[in-house]
Amino acid sequence: MELVAAVEATPGAPVIAGVMTGNEPAPGSEEVVGAIDESLLEISRFEGKTGQVATFPAGEGVAVLVGLGDEITFESIRAASGNSVRAVRSELARSLLALIPVDGALRAVVEGATLGSYQFRSYKTGDDEEVRLDRLEVAGAGQEEIDRIAVGAEATNLARDWVNIPAIDLSPTDIADAITSAAEETAVDVEVWDKARIEEEKLGAILGVAAGSSRPPVVVVLSYQPEGSTKHLGLVGKGITFDSGGLSLKSSTFMEEMKSDMAGGAAVAASVIAIARLGLPLRVTAVIPFTDNAVGGNATRPGDVLRPVSGPTIEVLNTDAEGRLILADGLGVVRRFGPDLIVDVATLTGAAKVALGERIGAVFASSPDVAELVLRAASRSGEVFWELPIFKEYRKALDSNIADIKNITGSRYGGAIAAAVFLSEYAGEGPWAHLDIAGPALWRETAGEHVKGASGVSVRTLVELASEFAEND
Ligand code: BES
Ligand code: ZN
Ligand code: ZN
Repeated sequence: MELVAAVEATPGAPVIAGVMTGNEPAPGSEEVVGAIDESLLEISRFEGKTGQVATFPAGEGVAVLVGLGDEITFESIRAASGNSVRAVRSELARSLLALIPVDGALRAVVEGATLGSYQFRSYKTGDDEEVRLDRLEVAGAGQEEIDRIAVGAEATNLARDWVNIPAIDLSPTDIADAITSAAEETAVDVEVWDKARIEEEKLGAILGVAAGSSRPPVVVVLSYQPEGSTKHLGLVGKGITFDSGGLSLKSSTFMEEMKSDMAGGAAVAASVIAIARLGLPLRVTAVIPFTDNAVGGNATRPGDVLRPVSGPTIEVLNTDAEGRLILADGLGVVRRFGPDLIVDVATLTGAAKVALGERIGAVFASSPDVAELVLRAASRSGEVFWELPIFKEYRKALDSNIADIKNITGSRYGGAIAAAVFLSEYAGEGPWAHLDIAGPALWRETAGEHVKGASGVSVRTLVELASEFAEND
């Protein structure tokens, strides 16, 4: 959707106005709401509640009232903005003016509209093509400011597209190509390591996961290094293009959504592109291994031992705990670039969903400072994360009989923490955060800025984090 700066409404164009519970107009919306016939408002079911949207004649024009609920917050504005752009279908309402009820709400309006209008229709045949709003005028802001604010939300939509594409059309090579073309015309350098290079680099854990698939793995290395940058952020993403579980095969219900097991990799790639678009003054290096976890005749067997590029040798007792294997190599590679902070993002464990539910991501951090940095960035961007501990006492449960470490504990409990403890063996001594997004990578229903399907979660948190990290010494 196109977002354009407007000083005043196009005459006759509908206007979006925020309304609080009890039909109290939000600041800035008084005039529009005042122009609506009171009896119309009374007989309607519109009460200004969260999620409600209704259209009324208002004087000469049309008002699209959107419920903000009990409070005007960035969250309620972002959600209302998403709800309103979806509510308008008419060809006649192609242009709509959004009033911004409070100071600083511009970002919430722009993000809500950009995220809430997202659609993935590449696999629908044209018949039921939805007529959607394609142009939103935003009052009281300049075009440059609007465009800049939209960058993070647009990158989120890019990640959503990549995750929504079925695995049949998104091999490791396909996603590498897609990232390469998305990075064109940005200052991001893309290197794609093919299987031969991965062998040369001795990334034994990635090769072990890839062994069961006929589609070869790739490692995508993204670098962004603006002149004069001092801070260096290292990113790693889990890019399992389909997780069948490998020989430790998943049941069909658990396998259904496993095209989304590259959501961490997609989020990392999209955020580097956004960081470059914004011209943020820091260096970023991202390492994203992409591979299927499949069941071919050459697949890694339970009991096999893998040798990642550095760190402990791994006895693979469950081939379905494959994310931590490719991340072990990813972390090993990114460390060689010497970043000041490493953040990895992965749909790593079902246990993270058990612990926090499907709407909250887990964050693990090497220190309270790092946790605070991530949590503050998340809350500013409206994404929800909660901290879980890297509890070193659980390391013992990962002792292997024949190798340095094994990839599962054998206990059903605390699985997200065990995975983080495993990763800590490969993350080095420096500042590091691990984001387990197994829950929020997919969204179950369309509401507010959220759309059912791939969520693109972490993109805006990473962009915000990069921006803060670049500023502070
Ligand atoms: N990709 C899954 C984790 C996952 C589960 C993501 C559900 C999204 C939704 C991961 O590779 C996996 O299978 N993990 C296992 C680990 C176990 C074998 C220790 C799990 O969580 O069951
Ligand atoms: Zn798995
Ligand atoms: Zn997985």
